[in-house]
Amino acid sequence: MLLAAVAIAPGIDYFPGFLDRAAQEALREEAQPIVADAPLFRPRMPRTGRPFTVLMSNCGPLGWVSDESGYRYQPTHPETGNPWPAIPARLLDAWALIAPDAPPPEACLVNFYDAVARMGLHQDRDEKELTAPVVSLSLGDAALFRVGGLARATPTRSFRLESGDAMMLRGPARLAFHGIDRIFAGSSSLIAGGGRINLTLRRVTRTSV
Ligand code: SIN
Ligand code: FE2
Repeated sequence: MLLAAVAIAPGIDYFPGFLDRAAQEALREEAQPIVADAPLFRPRMPRTGRPFTVLMSNCGPLGWVSDESGYRYQPTHPETGNPWPAIPARLLDAWALIAPDAPPPEACLVNFYDAVARMGLHQDRDEKELTAPVVSLSLGDAALFRVGGLARATPTRSFRLESGDAMMLRGPARLAFHGIDRIFAGSSSLIAGGGRINLTLRRVTRTSV
């Protein structure tokens, strides 16, 4: 793992090439049993029930889910009712390297994007511990990532997240609006059949002091 950060803006750190190809393959292999155990599900928007274009799963003691009742973290899969599988050691190592001062992550969201999936501009704000960063790793097809400021209307900048890249939102940018505008289908050979996997690690509960 290569720790070379590019500061996009205060609190927005980009780590291009964080995982080399061998590490990307190893992480892909670790994601496989997670989605075998906790199958990808299609979240729905609060209230309207409109389906997301991405498929999701989670690992860790808590997982992020969304349906008509709202966004929330819960300890079990919304369809199987089973606890989420554990966060693989490789991901915990990545967090420890990128965010050495943060308490351990409790949730790892697994997003799967096919060629036409996207994610609208949003804030990650369902966590109680906002002093801890959000750290995300990308595998497979590249994506056009868009990130702005603390208000939806703040101007955004966009750049391409490639397989193996890591991103961190912390401190002044912990609540920055961000999203995925598009997937560059066929840009990576990592995932058989194509697509992009994004693994997003978060601390959810407050650490007592
Ligand atoms: C997210 O914001 O949950 C995902 C971002 C990404 O796919 O890179
Ligand atoms: Fe997010």
